[in-house]
Amino acid sequence: MAAPPSDTQVQSATVQSLRPVGDDAFVLGVTFPEPFPALAAGRFFMLRREDDLSPAIPRPFSVYRQDENGALEFLVKTLGKGTQALAKTRVGEPVLVVGPLGNGWPAWKADGSAKWFVGGGIGSAPFYMAIQQAVAQGVAPELITFVYGGRTKGFLYDLDLFRELGVNVVAATDDGTEGFHGNVVQACESMLEAQNGPVQVFTCGPDPMMKAVVAFADKNGFESWISLETYMGCGVGICNGCAVGTTEDGPFGDWPVAKCCVDGPVFASTAVHV
Ligand SMILES: Cc1cc2nc3c(=O)[nH]c(=O)nc-3n(C[C@H](O)[C@H](O)[C@H](O)COP(=O)(O)OP(=O)(O)OC[C@H]3O[C@@H](n4cnc5c(N)ncnc54)[C@H](O)[C@@H]3O)c2cc1C
Ligand code: FES
Repeated sequence: MAAPPSDTQVQSATVQSLRPVGDDAFVLGVTFPEPFPALAAGRFFMLRREDDLSPAIPRPFSVYRQDENGALEFLVKTLGKGTQALAKTRVGEPVLVVGPLGNGWPAWKADGSAKWFVGGGIGSAPFYMAIQQAVAQGVAPELITFVYGGRTKGFLYDLDLFRELGVNVVAATDDGTEGFHGNVVQACESMLEAQNGPVQVFTCGPDPMMKAVVAFADKNGFESWISLETYMGCGVGICNGCAVGTTEDGPFGDWPVAKCCVDGPVFASTAVHV
């Protein structure tokens, strides 16, 4: 049975920076009394303020970036009470941080296959370090494409930072205000003609988008992985608040549900239903 990762800690971190991005998000930088060693991309942390402004239950966020001193950044879209409270933190204030949690993306294979990272809106968060780590692990930058979609330009957060990573970046907006005029699946379809050889697809974003990306991958015979952003309670496998249905012939066998927090949040698309 899956258990919380052995490196999970509960720490009071200190806010180091708070940088607005796009129309409705911010990047929260935090430092730790005991910095973490290099973290695998795709893992996540539960965060809350240490006062009553935050709900009692911390909220999950992917690790966005990590610097050489172990300081972490989280890319946060402001939605409800939990994220609004985090948006009100100021430099020097404490935040409660539980993690690292979850499994992260699978090991990057420099096997000649193209890697298409397909993110929607805030679903870009687990991809910045994924791209850095894939390149560091030998995947040629020209084989990596980050397809980043949003309703409009203001929901493509830190696009310029992604462009600085030196891989192919294809922006796509529903209203045509940035890059390809259309959604990420249409952008992927437009890339097919120039593609020779195998492709692996990794996606994170709203569920309908991921479903469409997986259908696109299946149709073209590409392997795919998804990073789910289900609602979470405890984040450590106790509350069953993050159950996701498993596929009949998948790796979970007869077990009908997986726990996103400890079995995921990254799954092979053949393992669970989006
Ligand atoms: C593993 C994981 C990683 C995540 N990484 C990030 C990240 O890097 N950056 C980021 O901004 N968010 C991320 N999320 C989503 C984030 O946790 C939620 O947006 C957050 O919990 C909302 O809290 P809130 O109190 O502000 O909103 P709430 O008051 O809880 O909800 C506000 C509104 O948002 C909707 N909502 C809340 N949570 C979700 C969700 N998970 N999926 C769809 N709709 C939701 C609610 O239905 C409601 O309409 C991640 C989630 C998971 C599980
Ligand atoms: S969030 Fe509690 S079991 Fe996953």
